[in-house]
Amino acid sequence: MSDSKLMSAAREARAFARAEFSKFKVGAAIETADGTIVTGCNIETATHGLTMCAERVAMFKALSEGHRAFRRIAIAANAKAPVPPCGPCRQVLWEFGGDMEVILANLRRETGRHRLGDLLPLPFDARLLK
Ligand code: THU
Repeated sequence: MSDSKLMSAAREARAFARAEFSKFKVGAAIETADGTIVTGCNIETATHGLTMCAERVAMFKALSEGHRAFRRIAIAANAKAPVPPCGPCRQVLWEFGGDMEVILANLRRETGRHRLGDLLPLPFDARLLK
């Protein structure tokens, strides 16, 4: 799948964002190992603290549909500066997706490209529980 297709899927997922409080809509699109695209958007509640980022929505959707191996995630927001995943999302993506490629985009263009391992150096994960 092309990068632009994955970024387009992330941009389209923004349309479903429930971002009434921040007005900051984010979309994410994960490419699984078998080439499936699973999307997510951010979902906010009036209690704010229950907010779920687009990246975690996409990952939890993918896991709940039985996907277990992941290649890449594209994240899209309407911002000039790159919008990278927050700390909790980095942790969740790492634990379930490993060293995924992370593609950042705004509505027009790619704004950054990283390995998740570079965004989360020295991670805590299940290997340390053994
Ligand atoms: N948000 C995401 O969904 N993903 C990110 O990578 C950054 C932040 C959401 C959370 C909240 O709904 C809004 O953006 C503002 O922080």
